[in-house]
Amino acid sequence: MVHRYSALAGLLATAAATPLSIRNDANQTMVRSFKDIPPSTDLKYVPCFDNFTCANIEVPLDYDNPDVGTTNVAFMRYDAPNQPAMGDIIWNPGGPGDSAIEFMLEALEMLTFLLGDSYNIVGMDPRGVNNSGPNIDCFAGQPALRDYYLLELFNNIDPRSPILLEKYYQDSGAFGTWCSQTLNASANYANTPATATDMLHYAELLAESQGQSPEEAKVHYYGASYGSALGTTFASLYPDRVGRFIIDAVLDVEDYYFGNWSQNLLQADKAVESFFRFCYEAGPKCAFFRNDSSADSIKQRFDAMLEDLEDNPIAVTDVNFVQFPTTVTHIDFRGFLLISLYNPPALFPSLAGIAAGLENHNGTLLALATGNGVMPSAECDGTSPEVSSVQPKLLIACNDNNKRFTVTEENVTALFEYDKQLSTYVGDIWPAVIVPQCRNLDFAPPENQVFQKFEKVNTSTPILFTDNVIDPVTSSYEKMSAFYEGSVILLQDAVGHGLVVTQAECTAGYVQKYLQTGELPPPGTVCDTQFEPFASTTSAKKRGLAPRGIPNIPF
Ligand SMILES: *[C@@H]1O[C@H](CO)[C@@H](O)[C@H](O)[C@H]1NC(C)=O
Ligand SMILES: *[C@@H]1O[C@H](CO)[C@@H](O)[C@H](O)[C@H]1NC(C)=O
Ligand SMILES: *[C@@H]1O[C@H](CO)[C@@H](O)[C@H](O)[C@H]1NC(C)=O
Ligand SMILES: *[C@@H]1O[C@H](CO)[C@@H](O)[C@H](O)[C@H]1NC(C)=O
Ligand SMILES: *[C@@H]1O[C@H](CO)[C@@H](O)[C@H](O)[C@H]1NC(C)=O
Ligand SMILES: *[C@@H]1O[C@H](CO)[C@@H](O)[C@H](O)[C@H]1NC(C)=O
Ligand SMILES: *[C@@H]1O[C@H](CO)[C@@H](O)[C@H](O)[C@H]1NC(C)=O
Ligand SMILES: *[C@@H]1O[C@H](CO)[C@@H](O)[C@H](O)[C@H]1NC(C)=O
Ligand SMILES: *[C@@H]1O[C@H](CO)[C@@H](O)[C@H](O)[C@H]1NC(C)=O
Repeated sequence: MVHRYSALAGLLATAAATPLSIRNDANQTMVRSFKDIPPSTDLKYVPCFDNFTCANIEVPLDYDNPDVGTTNVAFMRYDAPNQPAMGDIIWNPGGPGDSAIEFMLEALEMLTFLLGDSYNIVGMDPRGVNNSGPNIDCFAGQPALRDYYLLELFNNIDPRSPILLEKYYQDSGAFGTWCSQTLNASANYANTPATATDMLHYAELLAESQGQSPEEAKVHYYGASYGSALGTTFASLYPDRVGRFIIDAVLDVEDYYFGNWSQNLLQADKAVESFFRFCYEAGPKCAFFRNDSSADSIKQRFDAMLEDLEDNPIAVTDVNFVQFPTTVTHIDFRGFLLISLYNPPALFPSLAGIAAGLENHNGTLLALATGNGVMPSAECDGTSPEVSSVQPKLLIACNDNNKRFTVTEENVTALFEYDKQLSTYVGDIWPAVIVPQCRNLDFAPPENQVFQKFEKVNTSTPILFTDNVIDPVTSSYEKMSAFYEGSVILLQDAVGHGLVVTQAECTAGYVQKYLQTGELPPPGTVCDTQFEPFASTTSAKKRGLAPRGIPNIPF
């Protein structure tokens, strides 16, 4: 488990939602690992993980060139209570690199609330991710070493220091040089267009298994965050195979394919500003509130605190909290700030406590939240997960951009400056996400798996785009919707990354009506929600877990 900068681990994953405890009784016929399901060229579901059925499908690495071999793609299905179901919705939680199967095991309830009970929900691990091949882990078989290395790679990247920036540039190049030695050519085939074709392949196998014509089979889909890249890619490659499609937390996918990730932070500062407003409205329930007379007075104290921290990193030596002395910086704080914007109900209370500490020159809570000063236990007790989501993320995104962005030191420096203009609060840390890692990777998708460009298309079913009114990292629903004739945008009045940050009957109602009847909400619909990030901790509205690796701090 990567602790520090776990923002960088799941940066474009939807904010995690409430976990669901799933019965875990012994049952010999119940499969609990995809390793126990031999890959098969047809669709064979077997019972798995208590409440699901699983299929492990063998697919060609390149559908146009069978000679390069095959790999396996893992599917896990939750059967709708109402059978026969209206179809199977393939779901993607983001990343790239995040496991739909893991998400379904942990947060199925969030999906069923939104999607209702008339479709089966199918988690598919995209190529290169968790249960699906090919293996694109540059440290295969050494998970603890991999996680230790990733901590090192993303540690202490401060673009304001020319020396640290230069060091990071070299480190990130070394990542590519290293992986090019440890991976083989199968890594070329882990990319989004190929995964989109796997979705079509699934729909065709499903139709076949139901005695229907595969040529007419359509894909039903719900994808958020990076899932918006996968969904729009599918819809552009196979416009007449689009079934019901819900695309949430919408990336500027053109920018994603360019490879500099320069259009993410369009609303990031607005999301930070919402913290000041919610904190003011919450009053003493917000740990950063001090008899302030307005949201603006909170902002002024916050900005003064941050400016002070830039010049004065804070040593943390409290033996009751940290295992070794450490120092926290403004970069550490900006990292946590960014994560908190993904899921305000889960993390604004922590953000308020951390900011209140820092205002008093106390960095203890920040050190705890970021893992500074705490031994990363997974590296020592062997509990690092076998697969990481960081590695697939880097490899898949780099294959997708196919070196369209030339990663020179000058270009990276310019990108840091550009992002800083977009967001004064988190622009310093965003460009480290992915861009510099691509430059020395010796992989490239075959030509037929390189995404060409977006053009206006008619899809066989109009697409429903969704997002929060303020999404800190993906707010390009207007731009992407314009490529798809007849598509409609549905917003909900909340702050965070993806619809999962709140449960709103209004949103779920429109989504389910679309799924059941094809009827879209009227253009311009904004759903009201009961969004209150500082509602008391016992409230059912406080949804979401801390992102992986960030301990839940109780205040
Ligand atoms: C084991 O799982 C199968 C398939 O879901 C089910 O039919 C069977 O009743 C289960 N057996 C026990 C002992 O729980
Ligand atoms: C999983 O199965 C158990 C036993 O049937 C059931 O109690 C539980 O509600 C199921 N979970 C979901 C999300 O359906
Ligand atoms: C991968 O999938 C397994 C189920 O096969 C799940 O238990 C595990 O949490 C997932 N790991 C990651 C890192 O997604
Ligand atoms: C790459 O390595 C994997 C695992 O070692 C192996 O199964 C696969 O056949 C190799 N693929 C290629 C294209 O060499
Ligand atoms: C807030 O104001 C009230 C009344 O003006 C005062 O009693 C209290 O001490 C103040 N609290 C803080 C934290 O300044
Ligand atoms: C610093 O913050 C921690 C956590 O809130 C607190 O327990 C500790 O007493 C504070 N240290 C000082 C010197 O105030
Ligand atoms: C990046 O650098 C190259 C070479 O210096 C230059 O030709 C190119 O225009 C730059 N690209 C961007 C997007 O800034
Ligand atoms: C990002 O990439 C696009 C396309 O290559 C380019 O036009 C733009 O100038 C780049 N922006 C930055 C800040 O590098
Ligand atoms: C979509 O279909 C309509 C009706 O046939 C047509 O008028 C329109 O030009 C099409 N749009 C595109 C982008 O092909």
